[in-house]
Amino acid sequence: MKNKLIVALDVKGMENIVNIVDDLKDKAVWYKIGAVNFTAYSSKVVEIIKDRQKRLFLDLKYHDIPNTVKEAVFSACKIGADMLTVHSIGGVDMMSAALDGVKAFEDKYAKKGALILAVTVLTSFNEETIKRDMFLDSKIEDLVISLAENAKKSGIKGLVASPNETSVLREKFGDYFTIVTPGIRPKNSAVNDQKRVTTPCEAIKLGSDYIVVGRPIYANDNPVDAYDNIVKDMEGIC
Ligand code: C5P
Repeated sequence: MKNKLIVALDVKGMENIVNIVDDLKDKAVWYKIGAVNFTAYSSKVVEIIKDRQKRLFLDLKYHDIPNTVKEAVFSACKIGADMLTVHSIGGVDMMSAALDGVKAFEDKYAKKGALILAVTVLTSFNEETIKRDMFLDSKIEDLVISLAENAKKSGIKGLVASPNETSVLREKFGDYFTIVTPGIRPKNSAVNDQKRVTTPCEAIKLGSDYIVVGRPIYANDNPVDAYDNIVKDMEGIC
């Protein structure tokens, strides 16, 4: 199960990032770097992960014209991204171009490129803000399904989905997508700013292939125990 737990490295400060990765050196396999730490530290933070032969989930949520996304994905594969995100709202052509970026990397370097995950609707949106800001009069769930359909049409095989979307996506698409789920909180841990959370065990039961956990690990006094307990919970009965 430890291969299914991705540690979100959102902790501030290079020293703290190194400390967490070193604390978890015999445990964690996957780390997620997002826009904040990638913008602050760029290749330095990537090296911390890749020098230790760990897997990198580069969560920069690309959304641009197709050719720019293709080139960005190519470069992300080149620096060692094993998974990366694009916004499905960028459209089918943009998502296909992202896959072209992976293929161009694989053809050039004869190495496996990143798995592309499409982000559907950010969990910070609700029906009211979708209508106000995107002029869309749909239910979030319908929008999530339609955007996932577009991702499938483009050939993309991975999705980021909140725990409450996972089961409906599994119902609709079966095992087609690899589903990665943030918004995870072990029992008795602080919810922070997450609006809807689920436990590691429930997320796996609902059909997630990977879970992403940040603060409950890196903000814990004992990140190693926190990591172990999450893995135990993922393997347990809930
Ligand atoms: O600290 P926490 O476990 O809440 O971190 C969750 C990680 O997943 C953060 O990096 C956050 O940006 C990301 N994320 C999320 N909800 C989404 C998409 C990504 O929490 N819908």
